[in-house]
Amino acid sequence: MKIILANSYDEMSKKAAIILANQIILKPDSVLGLATGSTPVGTYQELIKLYDVGIVDFSNVITFNLDEYYGLSSEHEQSYSHYMRKILFERVNIELENTHIPSGVPEDIEKECLLYDTKIDSFGGIDLQILGIGSNGHIGFNEPNTRFQSMTHLVDLNYETIEANKRFFSDNEPVPQKAISMGIKGIMQAKKIVLLASGKGKADAVQKAVEGPITPEVPASILQLHADVTLILDKDAASQLQGAICKKSAS
Ligand code: GLP
Repeated sequence: MKIILANSYDEMSKKAAIILANQIILKPDSVLGLATGSTPVGTYQELIKLYDVGIVDFSNVITFNLDEYYGLSSEHEQSYSHYMRKILFERVNIELENTHIPSGVPEDIEKECLLYDTKIDSFGGIDLQILGIGSNGHIGFNEPNTRFQSMTHLVDLNYETIEANKRFFSDNEPVPQKAISMGIKGIMQAKKIVLLASGKGKADAVQKAVEGPITPEVPASILQLHADVTLILDKDAASQLQGAICKKSAS
């Protein structure tokens, strides 16, 4: 695992955007795996800045998002489809038909999951996967004790995750209890992975993922087995790491 330390959320976002931009410049038809949540918002903003000055061209980029809430249509304001359109897709020259997000309201859930994995394969797999991390170590919506062999599947969200997601929903709005998520095996099949983490709330999960045993109890710990993983951590997210990395200053 390669670990890049950043002094702040903004610096983490800039470093991540540079890696993404570089990927697209080197391979204009890159297949990107994208994440939602609050952590990558700054990264997408930085990427938009690079697009605005003509450094990045999204016209041939293909994207696959990690997950979607089960029960929310793509028009729902809290759906990840809506998030992606507002935060990134409508602000760059990506072709919307090149963007993929699992349907939150599929007619046949099993077919939808299988189709999603088949589509990723048909584009030759994901070149670069962006990940956030849940405070319980989840990646995508793969909660603790998800099988490492899992592909795209329907997930029962943990109490902790539902509570964390409540902040995005208004008071009387029900928070989804289920989601469709790319599986851990699907994520591990990406050629490169970049995981972003910011804030003290992620420090314990980051420490366990990087320095703890590889166990389904901490889904992100599987990343220790991937050949090309970069973690970009701000100081707070890195604050519980015990190894040499936590003593290095940010570069
Ligand atoms: C959700 C998303 C994950 C994300 C996580 C952390 O569970 N499905 O992809 O990594 O939240 O979110 P945040 O970045 O808002 O802390």
